[in-house]
Amino acid sequence: MSSSRTVIRGGLVVTAADEIHADVLIEDGRIAALATPGSDAAESWTADRTIDARQKYVIPGGVDAHTHMELPFGGTFASDTFETGTRAAAWGGTTTIVDFAVQSVGHTLREGLDAWHAKADGNCAIDYGFHMIVSDVHDETLKEMDLLVSEGVTSFKQFMAYPGVFYSDDGQILRAMQRSAENGGLIMMHAENGIAIDVLVQQALDRGETDPRYHGEVRKALLEAEATHRAIRLAQVAGAPLYVVHVSAREALAEIARARDEGLNVFGETCPQYLFLSTDNLAEPDFEGAKYVCSTPLRPKDHQESLWRGLRTNDLQVVSTDHCPFCFTGQKELGRGDFSKIPNGMPGVENRMDLLHQAVVDGHISRRRWIEIACATPARMFGLYPKKGTIAPGADADVVIYDPHAEQTVSADTHHMNVDYSAYEGKRLTGRVETVLSRGELVISEREFTGRAGHGVYTPRATCQYLN
Ligand code: URP
Ligand code: ZN
Ligand code: ZN
Ligand code: ZN
Repeated sequence: MSSSRTVIRGGLVVTAADEIHADVLIEDGRIAALATPGSDAAESWTADRTIDARQKYVIPGGVDAHTHMELPFGGTFASDTFETGTRAAAWGGTTTIVDFAVQSVGHTLREGLDAWHAKADGNCAIDYGFHMIVSDVHDETLKEMDLLVSEGVTSFKQFMAYPGVFYSDDGQILRAMQRSAENGGLIMMHAENGIAIDVLVQQALDRGETDPRYHGEVRKALLEAEATHRAIRLAQVAGAPLYVVHVSAREALAEIARARDEGLNVFGETCPQYLFLSTDNLAEPDFEGAKYVCSTPLRPKDHQESLWRGLRTNDLQVVSTDHCPFCFTGQKELGRGDFSKIPNGMPGVENRMDLLHQAVVDGHISRRRWIEIACATPARMFGLYPKKGTIAPGADADVVIYDPHAEQTVSADTHHMNVDYSAYEGKRLTGRVETVLSRGELVISEREFTGRAGHGVYTPRATCQYLN
């Protein structure tokens, strides 16, 4: 551990709670102090490195609580490794990811978790934690959940979709929820009625409807809403909190809003793709729509305003990426002639902080809300706060110097994700990451990568810190 001291001078420090002009002192990888620029305290600081943040924001590093590096899906693997994916995350101002380890059917949680540790260990540029995908609920699995919680894997994803792969039936879901009510775990739900969707998929294919846009048509908003409602009531019966991942339909959001009005510990996450893209993208000709195939699917444009409102009213608390990239060439193309064979998922880990800053510029959310939904709340939701998600004495010095005036054009030609297209190709954005520190070490320095694979460490998590 180096005893280096860094001072960041003259920036506007933005957290979920405050916006203050302050100098920031970093010592031994942690935030040591904040002080008014020009004050005796700030003037007395000596440092090995001084970063000039005048005209810039000084914000906590982003916490992306939903990524899938190297996820096996549909006979292929998500194209970002932990090395390439965490490097790209850093370029985009994210300093912590929580990725999903996978239990496959017939195997233990431990086997899945060990496999994901092996993929990530020594390869990450930024810190990381794990959720656990539970695909096979039985007595042993439930016991293992207790152990995982005690090891800092405090959240578990279940799927109401993908029968035969990740799918859990209502009984399995209820049992896992009952267990998490006891052990403090948080169930994260992929809420889509996969049994009904599979019927609609087959009927569409039988009619010769094979293009990517039919992916959006069969995965109906009503079937997202129905599953969301069912998950909420199962959680209520179990007395467990519930976090609904990748909410895309306004009807599903309405179920979450109703549950929250009832005082339930029900939370919702949405993703940039649902806020900025729509079924218009899925309908792009020449199979280009395959680039936008993910589940839950993109919705008609008029859902976006409901999602933005949900983010403002706190019916949605978190924006994560669900980063799950597949190259167009060779991977998305597996589904030419059959949309159901297109691997599900989109790239975005590098774009989230910038897209949400654009939402500040466009007036959808405030600057502090930007930091709340992208840094502070995901850290609280998943037991990483205040180590991650804020700038305060004692917190890890995961800090981004953000230039709110810089202009950029998003493109696969310049991004750092290991994928051959950008979902936001050509989109012009105001604001850009300039410098990124992870535990006080420079990972991005004035738009140059200065980090290294292996700097990032596994970060065990406490249980949810966001309960009513
Ligand atoms: O399409 C998606 N979202 N792929 C990743 C797996 C999941 O369901 O989150
Ligand atoms: Zn096994
Ligand atoms: Zn999912
Ligand atoms: Zn996902």
